[in-house]
Amino acid sequence: MASGQLSREEALACTDCKHACHVMLYSDTKSQLFGRTPIKHIVLMQMRFDGLLGFPGGLVDAGESLEEGLNRELLEELGMAVSVSEEDLMDSRFAPPLPGKPCAGLITHLYVKKLEEEQIQEVEKACVSSAADHGLEVMGMVRVPLYSTIRGGGLGFFLSNSFIGNARSQLINSLLRLHLVSAGELRSALRNSLKIHS
Ligand code: GTP
Ligand code: MN
Ligand code: MN
Ligand code: MN
Ligand code: MN
Ligand code: MN
Repeated sequence: MASGQLSREEALACTDCKHACHVMLYSDTKSQLFGRTPIKHIVLMQMRFDGLLGFPGGLVDAGESLEEGLNRELLEELGMAVSVSEEDLMDSRFAPPLPGKPCAGLITHLYVKKLEEEQIQEVEKACVSSAADHGLEVMGMVRVPLYSTIRGGGLGFFLSNSFIGNARSQLINSLLRLHLVSAGELRSALRNSLKIHS
């Protein structure tokens, strides 16, 4: 287990901790950008009400299991049931403190779930047509560009956005662990993300 990571048991043993569960939904795809750049994988994130990028999901309420809380949040934020289960849990760790908002005791859990491309498209439609939170807590789902353009765009520029909590490192770690981008591609994207754009 990587440093900082908690097992499910360790996380649940903290009886006065809050738990936030989010999921990275992804699929394979054969589509090509401009008919020539293979996109390879689709990864979904959301633009939040606060202008930050994050994954769909949220805080687990009292009396809910981690997955009950996550699946309820997904219904609210995506407008359809995407049933995520215990085996999909990939990473649990303490959340970093936010400026002006000490959050000692918040444990963030990231789940990953592979769907078919058609199911990703259904989620994208449902979140606009049926999600209770659409236009309120969630401004829309976004696909993460995983390729690099010649000017450092694509994943590099995407990573220079602002993210909630540790969502940026959750994204980077998951892309690597699931082999959705290579270590080399990721390294060059991280370099490009440090450039200033205006
Ligand atoms: P309400 O619907 O208003 O109850 O919000 P929520 O339950 O949907 O909570 P939210 O998704 O904002 O997540 C709760 C907390 O988890 C936030 O205060 C963030 O600090 C943190 N958080 C939000 N999104 C992410 C994410 O993608 N990754 C991580 N690690 N933390 C997140
Ligand atoms: Mn929510
Ligand atoms: Mn949420
Ligand atoms: Mn909530
Ligand atoms: Mn809510
Ligand atoms: Mn791959």
